[in-house]
Amino acid sequence: LQIKITGLASKKSTLFDVSSNEMNLNLLEFLRSKDMPVASSCDGVALCHKCVTSQKELSCRIYLKDLNDGEEISFDYL
Ligand code: FES
Repeated sequence: LQIKITGLASKKSTLFDVSSNEMNLNLLEFLRSKDMPVASSCDGVALCHKCVTSQKELSCRIYLKDLNDGEEISFDYL
């Protein structure tokens, strides 16, 4: 699985290859493991809404296994 993460503030896109043992991670956990500074003050329990994507979904509630190959997700503030 490959996903594309775009920061609308920086206008930068990064492609990430997701390995099979990362498929059970949520997007917040995955991007933090790649040193992408996704915001969170609730530590991924869907309370703070800081991890929201430009598509208005919580990245802590998006699971990599549910994404399609080549899917693009953006963050307004990255
Ligand atoms: S990290 Fe707080 S809502 Fe996702």
